[in-house]
Amino acid sequence: MKISIINGPNLNLLGQREPGIYGNQTFDAFFLELQAKFPQITFDYFQSNIEGELIDRLQQVGFSSDGIILNAAAYTHTSVGMGDAIKAIDTPVIEVHISNTFAREDFRHTSYITPNAKGLILGFGMDSYRLAVQSFL
Ligand code: DQA
Repeated sequence: MKISIINGPNLNLLGQREPGIYGNQTFDAFFLELQAKFPQITFDYFQSNIEGELIDRLQQVGFSSDGIILNAAAYTHTSVGMGDAIKAIDTPVIEVHISNTFAREDFRHTSYITPNAKGLILGFGMDSYRLAVQSFL
């Protein structure tokens, strides 16, 4: 099974960005742990701060991967283009968020991803990604 993880803007700063909300772990460190937990899965990982690059990546892996785990970060709340990209591809997408976006500012309660995603996992810290992997299994 092949699973693609895609992270959006500012998630390259995990580990140093607002640790009270997003924790102290870098994504690279977490990704090593995740790969060790699921040795039977082939993972690939992509992060960008640029909306168009995230759409390109969805199109790139969206016809070959078995599952996509997408944390679109701030673009979740703004990007019609990312929502349309999910509709356009074949691979099912699980939307994840580290924080509970519904317990935060109102603008974070809107998602252009959710209506097109297979499911949504949020609020479990980095464990949201593991739960998403588990859901594909
Ligand atoms: C986030 C939540 C978003 O509202 C925010 O813009 C992020 C991270 C999360 O994982 O909790 O950058 O997607």
